[in-house]
Amino acid sequence: MTRQSPDGPDAAVSCTGLVYAFGDTRAVDGLDLSVGEGEVFGLLGPNGAGKTTAIRCITTLLPVPAGMVRVFGNDAAHDRMAVRRLLGYVPQQLSADAGLSGRQNVSLFARVYDVARKERAERVAQALTAVGLTDAADRLASTYSGGMVRRLELAQALVSAPRLLILDEPTIGLDPIARTDVWDHINVVREVTGMTVLVTTHYMDEADQYCDRVGLMHRGRIRALGTPDELRAGLGERRRAEGAPATAPLPTLEDVFRDIAGSGLDDKSGDFRDVRSTRRTARRVG
Ligand SMILES: Nc1ncnc2c1ncn2[C@@H]1O[C@H](COP(=O)(O)OP(=O)(O)OP(=O)(O)O)[C@@H](O)[C@H]1O
Ligand SMILES: [Mg+2]
Repeated sequence: MTRQSPDGPDAAVSCTGLVYAFGDTRAVDGLDLSVGEGEVFGLLGPNGAGKTTAIRCITTLLPVPAGMVRVFGNDAAHDRMAVRRLLGYVPQQLSADAGLSGRQNVSLFARVYDVARKERAERVAQALTAVGLTDAADRLASTYSGGMVRRLELAQALVSAPRLLILDEPTIGLDPIARTDVWDHINVVREVTGMTVLVTTHYMDEADQYCDRVGLMHRGRIRALGTPDELRAGLGERRRAEGAPATAPLPTLEDVFRDIAGSGLDDKSGDFRDVRSTRRTARRVG
């Protein structure tokens, strides 16, 4: 599958200088982010980094008070319906109604997302099949396990056949098998449709395994960006430039996370860590 350049005019998601404040708290503080079509992009960062707030601006659930958000070229501030039609969203907070069956929950979303009435039953059934819930479809969601609820929410987000799937911590609280299961279902749909995925997770192994690129967010902005390999190599080279022995083990993605999230960043210092420029510096120093 060909992937578009993440910075091209057809980027699936493009945020420029996005700011969103709750009172005095600048939850998102000048966010620049670009996700290429077909990419699986992981937005990582500590609690309170601003991930969910940024995502809610991208989904148009929150307004865009300053800066620019585009989804496949559509301006989220001015063309909210066009943006909404392109995306499926699994929120961080559970969104399935325990008092409805799985099928009823997905049908509700089909109506909300304006799936044509005559296609609805078929599309609902397809979405339930895609997440492996056909057999449990007519049971109340209150009888589902945590993993089944997350898969149901995935079906809700998939029923509109989105070009962009946004998942806010889709696997939180799931056992390792259920986590793999959720990802397997996402990846099967991606293979068929070429859907773009923007996901947040606190599980570094998931980011490593499933994301083409990750952006590490801290205090409202992306502080490091690259493929998992680039980020690890970048930190390794910087450590060597700072005197670590050449035999030191390659850092893990968790080390990269700790390096950024635990760094007490000074916001005035231009702290975006572009892996490539770090690597150039490291080469000069070493
Ligand atoms: N509705 C709200 N009212 C006031 N402040 C809020 C609200 N929602 C979020 N915030 C604040 O905005 C900042 C960013 O929160 P956000 O939920 O976007 O972070 P996050 O990166 O998604 O964190 P987590 O990993 O815990 O989900 C935090 O300081 C949070 O307290
Ligand atoms: Mg969040």
